[in-house]
Amino acid sequence: MARNKHNSKKGNAPDARGWARDGQNASLWNGHLALKREGATVPETDVYDVLIVGAGITGLTTALLLQQAGKRCVVADAHHAGFGTTGGTTAHINTFADNTYAEVEQAFGKEAAPLFADSIRGAVELIRHFVGTCQIDCDLEWRQGYVYAETEEEVKQLEELYQSALRAGVKAAPADDVPTPVPYLAAVVFDDQAQFHPLKYIGGLLNEFRKSGGAVVENACIREVETADGYYTAIADQHRLRAKRVVYATHIPPGGINVLHFRNASYRSYVIAVTLADGAYPDALVYDCQEPYHYFRTHTIDGQPYLVAGGNDHKTGHDDPQKAFADLIAYTRKYYHVERVAYQWSAQYYVPADGLPYIGHLPGAPDGIYAATGYNGNGMILGTAAAQVLSDLIMTGESKYKTLYDPARVKPVAGFAEVVKESADVVKRFIGDRFGIAHIDSLADVSPDEGRVIELDGEKLAVYRDSVGDIHVLDPVCTHAKCIVQWNTEEKSWDCPCHGARFDCLGHVLTDPARADLDQLL
Ligand code: FES
Repeated sequence: MARNKHNSKKGNAPDARGWARDGQNASLWNGHLALKREGATVPETDVYDVLIVGAGITGLTTALLLQQAGKRCVVADAHHAGFGTTGGTTAHINTFADNTYAEVEQAFGKEAAPLFADSIRGAVELIRHFVGTCQIDCDLEWRQGYVYAETEEEVKQLEELYQSALRAGVKAAPADDVPTPVPYLAAVVFDDQAQFHPLKYIGGLLNEFRKSGGAVVENACIREVETADGYYTAIADQHRLRAKRVVYATHIPPGGINVLHFRNASYRSYVIAVTLADGAYPDALVYDCQEPYHYFRTHTIDGQPYLVAGGNDHKTGHDDPQKAFADLIAYTRKYYHVERVAYQWSAQYYVPADGLPYIGHLPGAPDGIYAATGYNGNGMILGTAAAQVLSDLIMTGESKYKTLYDPARVKPVAGFAEVVKESADVVKRFIGDRFGIAHIDSLADVSPDEGRVIELDGEKLAVYRDSVGDIHVLDPVCTHAKCIVQWNTEEKSWDCPCHGARFDCLGHVLTDPARADLDQLL
């Protein structure tokens, strides 16, 4: 396999403190935090009740709930805890979601919105519970959350958001004193929102899971799962893990093609953490109504406050990451007295076709295999909600949210339109990349620490020139379903525009659903 040909690894490798993330850029979180690495090797003869694949907030919350309920669990991660999206989130904890309660009512019926709100409320309480009972020091702070409108059209959207939140039983009120320098026409405030340090939080979950007897295996990229004799055997390069049930807490499930790959679109979101010359840091969570929207909050680390600003999202592999960062920085500078851009990073999330996450039995898989994905930009809350649903399903076979989040659901009208849009985009991209991409003449056009897909004699090649000038040539065909990867100039990664798989500069898998590295040709 190609991965055996790689003899060096840079960029995404763990630093001296054993911490890394799925991109070249340090986030505010991993830039400050040393992770205690204690990955174990477990005997191949052990049979666990549940194998949880993925050690982000979904996987670790699920694992802790199940372990505390008496199940014997093992968590396997292809890298280590917090390597993926949880390490790149902006860690907003909200009682409202990107998919508004009005949109949920429209697509799923009036009774669905209060149920969705109830699930979200339960997730907030579960975070509060774990922080308290496990004494997790994760900078959890309760804040008000403001959403404001800048145009008449946005005022109408905001009114709909507000009214539907009330109908769903969520506390909200009109606001006239938003802590933002942006001129606005109307605003709504939500009480009891929160923020935390995501890696400190999942570090606390991890400690508690281990204390409860749970096992964690790092650097275990599950290549395939076999079934025999009533249990599953997950095969990684150096591990074989056996369990009666398997939970994929990896966003969309890895490996072969699954219906969830076509019901979720992968997006990149951009974040900067800046210091302000005038010290006017907002003491709240703040969101505008633009499309895509901007969001702001403050986090203090080692006595230094940072304004954390996010936005400029786009589909993975479809736009220019450098421009996204430049636009986000320019937008923030327009309204805030930015002294220094201390951090800039991007992270991946998944937009579900019909607006609600997919949580439950993995469609097409045998009984006992579960998945959770499609959290939109609300991963902290919906990842926690997913853990509650999955643990209930595994413990009792039931959850009051089972139907709402059923991954096998097929939603008519709005959902269908969105699926078609996303799928058509994928197909268009696939054909365009395979047969229509502009030719690039020479390897010499690739600058140090940059990559590019070029075409030579009809063959597409992914060319990366490392910082000492050596050329590395990879097969640009994504190992998931054969789309052509694109170079991400900011995170120094190869990103697939179809279902969001990502590979580091030398072709090693960073992000599912791909499970095999890009083939190294030269
Ligand atoms: Fe599916 Fe690349 S992620 S083809």
